[in-house]
Amino acid sequence: MAKGHIIAGLDIGTNTIKLLVIQKRNKEWEVLSYQEMPSFGLRKGAVVDAGEVSKNIQTLLSETEKNSSKKITSVFVNIGGNHIYITPSDGIISVSRANQIISQEDIDRVLQATRAINIPQNEEVLDVFPKEFIIDDQKGIKQPLGLRGIRLEAKVLLLCVFSPYFINLTQAVLNSKLHIDDIVPSPLAASEAVLTREQKELGVALIDIGASTTSLAVFEEGNLLHLAVFPIGSANITNDIAIGLKTEIFVAESIKKQYGSCMLVKQDKEKKDEKINIEKKKIEIIENSSVVSFTRKDLVDIIEPRVSEILDLILKELKKIGRQELLPCGIVLTGGGAKISKIKELTKEQLKLPVQIGKIKNILGLDEDTALATVAGLVLSSAVMDETDKEGLSGVLKGFWSKIKKMLKVLVP
Ligand SMILES: Nc1ncnc2c1ncn2[C@@H]1O[C@H](COP(=O)(O)OP(=O)(O)OP(=O)(O)O)[C@@H](O)[C@H]1O
Ligand SMILES: [Mg+2]
Repeated sequence: MAKGHIIAGLDIGTNTIKLLVIQKRNKEWEVLSYQEMPSFGLRKGAVVDAGEVSKNIQTLLSETEKNSSKKITSVFVNIGGNHIYITPSDGIISVSRANQIISQEDIDRVLQATRAINIPQNEEVLDVFPKEFIIDDQKGIKQPLGLRGIRLEAKVLLLCVFSPYFINLTQAVLNSKLHIDDIVPSPLAASEAVLTREQKELGVALIDIGASTTSLAVFEEGNLLHLAVFPIGSANITNDIAIGLKTEIFVAESIKKQYGSCMLVKQDKEKKDEKINIEKKKIEIIENSSVVSFTRKDLVDIIEPRVSEILDLILKELKKIGRQELLPCGIVLTGGGAKISKIKELTKEQLKLPVQIGKIKNILGLDEDTALATVAGLVLSSAVMDETDKEGLSGVLKGFWSKIKKMLKVLVP
């Protein structure tokens, strides 16, 4: 973990693999090193080729160690992909002490009991997120430690993953001669980087639009309420542009970044004609002596339906949990896909909620880039842990803490 006040986060994404190392200076966390490179060996956010990913990790490590003159021995790493899901569960135990005061051991036992559910053999429970505890029918208790009772019940969300992808991920990291401090689902890491405690308390949804996945994490009363990952992301937009404009992927990618937009500009009266002209003006790009010709409107016609499809998946999830149009702190967007022009406006229109582009907190010297939210959250989950009274942490952070202990037991050789 934070050896010599250095923390490393590794975001293994489908498009890019990112390694961020932060160090503490004068009570602030600052970037010691940031390296990224194109990623190989993943499909839709999941590690399918541990060898390829391990090669990438080793390249990033040697660059980082060269630039920072520090040895990196362990990392916080993300787990992505639509094999990740949550499912509700509960557990019940008798309080063990004769004086009926609930101990940490009772809490650990009841949380352990929630894990005893039937899931397919090739899946495993990665983490447990408590929603509430019930002591002798008294509901809605957040922190039962030290309270008195005979029967302790826990209602939780279990976070489950497909074991082969989980094993590939851990192998890729361990084969790179790194210890694993913790494995954090990507949308929870991104949430750590950009959401405030107040937003999580009042109700907020984080949407991370990556290259091949879009992830959703919803919080309320400080706890995780819902999590879902969809196998669709900004690379789908690039593919649509390549098909629509009959051009190569790398050309489509650069057209998307330079000219792409989810909406035509709002037409204010005095500039109306001028803006319509811009939208209809032919843009020509010469690539390998062939010409790609399009208007901004052509691009919106390609991009808007795809982003709208992604937002529709999110809307369905919010409906499932009864939170459509009902999150006071609205939506926060992260991931490289959130950089496309007018996505904030389209999201607001379609989900009918306030929308913000996520801003990474508390790391000096890190670029303002939504694509860095996951890697930033990985290091921040530990940086916060360093400084905060562990008893006073929110449910999600406590989850991280218990997982850190668990992973150390399971994985560190
Ligand atoms: N300025 C931009 N406009 C539009 N899209 C962009 C822009 N910059 C980056 N992107 C897109 O963001 C995506 C990469 O984002 P990110 O780094 O969050 O993905 P990832 O973490 O590698 O993928 P995943 O999370 O799906 O595994 C690419 O598809 C890229 O085209
Ligand atoms: Mg990502």
